Amino acid sequence: MTFDAMWADLQPVGRDRRSGGYRRFAWTAEDGALREWFTGEAAGRGLDVVPDRAGNLWAWWGDPDADGPGLVVGSHLDSVPDGGAFDGPLGVVSALAALDVLRARGWTPSRPLGIAVFSDEEGARFGVACAGSRIITGALDPDRARSLTDADGTTVAEAMAAAGHDPVQVGPDQTTLARVGTFVELHVEQGRALVDAPDEAAVGVASAIWPHGRWRLDLRGRADHAGTTRLEDRDDPMLHLAEAITAARRAAGEHDALATIGKLRVEPGGVNAIPSRITAWLDARGPVEADVRAVVAAVGAAAGSEPVEESWTGSTAFDAGLRDRLAALLAAPVLPTGAGHDAGILSAAGIPAAMLFVRNPTGVSHSPEEHAEPADCHRGVEALARVVEELG
Ligand code: GLV
Ligand code: MN
Ligand code: MN
Ligand code: MN
Repeated sequence: MTFDAMWADLQPVGRDRRSGGYRRFAWTAEDGALREWFTGEAAGRGLDVVPDRAGNLWAWWGDPDADGPGLVVGSHLDSVPDGGAFDGPLGVVSALAALDVLRARGWTPSRPLGIAVFSDEEGARFGVACAGSRIITGALDPDRARSLTDADGTTVAEAMAAAGHDPVQVGPDQTTLARVGTFVELHVEQGRALVDAPDEAAVGVASAIWPHGRWRLDLRGRADHAGTTRLEDRDDPMLHLAEAITAARRAAGEHDALATIGKLRVEPGGVNAIPSRITAWLDARGPVEADVRAVVAAVGAAAGSEPVEESWTGSTAFDAGLRDRLAALLAAPVLPTGAGHDAGILSAAGIPAAMLFVRNPTGVSHSPEEHAEPADCHRGVEALARVVEELG
């Protein structure tokens, strides 16, 4: 199947008809359909699909145990709530298409070639981003991973088991990692660096991922009647939340960082009741770790509540030799990113990794507005094919 045919195949899966965005959360029926689709595409190309201990899928051309370590390309298929079509799937579909391009040219790899699909990259359902790569590299404790819960109280262990992956296996997976000599992830660009750049490059190479993390704020108050409780008698956590939101914006500006409160749980959630409890999630990122920490501290102080760290990833520079080699090969600009990726987690675990970014004319991501022109997607496939040819 061509890139366009594969792309068309995926479009209906998990698409919300009202927003046009995608809801493809880890270990749901939609995720299962995407995994099944990938397994079928891989099998159709004669690749052996092997799940690892976290349920990440690895499709191999060649035997990575006998002739490895290999070169692996890939990304993820899950999405954020109302995500775009490209964040994740573009890297997976491009990997399959690049393989087809190279085979059509009669190319064969000198080391095994793998295509990877990582589980739960977005952490949209259970809260921890890049859960699949964090589990196998040991960056996420297996017991914590299994016991993470979604909004309905379903644990990762329960969701995995329901999807047919044995949660007892969850844990570091040295056997899988030893097969990966180099990892390259192609991804839609999630900002404006390429579209605003004067050189009109459709493809860029990543230099580094900013330090970033997620924190939870637990704000307590006292539920009471909206119509009968005098203002001076109220203990309303919504006021603390308001302070936290404006502090996030102010502190991010002061520290040259980014801070976002994008998810809330308000209890009991009645229009006519003062909330008893608010849970707010803070995402903070920036080029300098100390600045990100300072923003989080400022938000905590404004909220009157110590932020609880749910995940943290330090600054991740991609392998410099690989980065320079790919930038020269493709004559591509080099750019940093504030978005987290499995390639960053593998890189932090010592695997030489690189990323290619495909231009996004809207500059918008984690939204239905996210876009890449078909011609740029095809350029991305060609760039990835050249990279595989060079490194494989
Ligand atoms: C994951 O995609 C993130 O960067 O939040
Ligand atoms: Mn994303
Ligand atoms: Mn992504
Ligand atoms: Mn990401």
